[in-house]
Amino acid sequence: MTKKILLLHGPNLNLLGTREPEVYGSVTLDQINQWAETRAKWHKAELRSEQSNHEGALIDILHVARNWADGVVFNPGAYTHTSIALRDAISSIQLPVVEVHLSNVHAREEFRHKSLLAPVCLGQISGFGWRSYLLGIDALLGHLGVLENPA
Ligand code: DQA
Repeated sequence: MTKKILLLHGPNLNLLGTREPEVYGSVTLDQINQWAETRAKWHKAELRSEQSNHEGALIDILHVARNWADGVVFNPGAYTHTSIALRDAISSIQLPVVEVHLSNVHAREEFRHKSLLAPVCLGQISGFGWRSYLLGIDALLGHLGVLENPA
């Protein structure tokens, strides 16, 4: 069965390309979504991407994903550090979620060091720019058992 991935982006990530390029790079969200789709196809998986600036809308998208997705690659933006509601949503949907960040949140301001979501995620990938998303897709598909054994 083809695995299906939700690629979900939180607040302000629609501005990628122009938003603080020295921190987040100059690649746009559309480019990241296209590259992510290509990566998923390479692994014979399907990927749909969504973005919202609203906490409740992100929760709704995660709830709907229960009905179609096998797992989620999620950059929650600043909600990473604040949202108990998103943490509860991740716990509730019983889907594997990989938390990704473009920047290395642990090398930045102290308020970014804490993720409320990481404890309920499969793992966290942080600091590799747009490649964090591709690493997240690989990690999720590896967890879902569809990547070939390199040995
Ligand atoms: C981010 C890191 C967050 O701290 C920040 O609020 C973002 C982007 C990242 O991808 O590096 O919006 O999630």
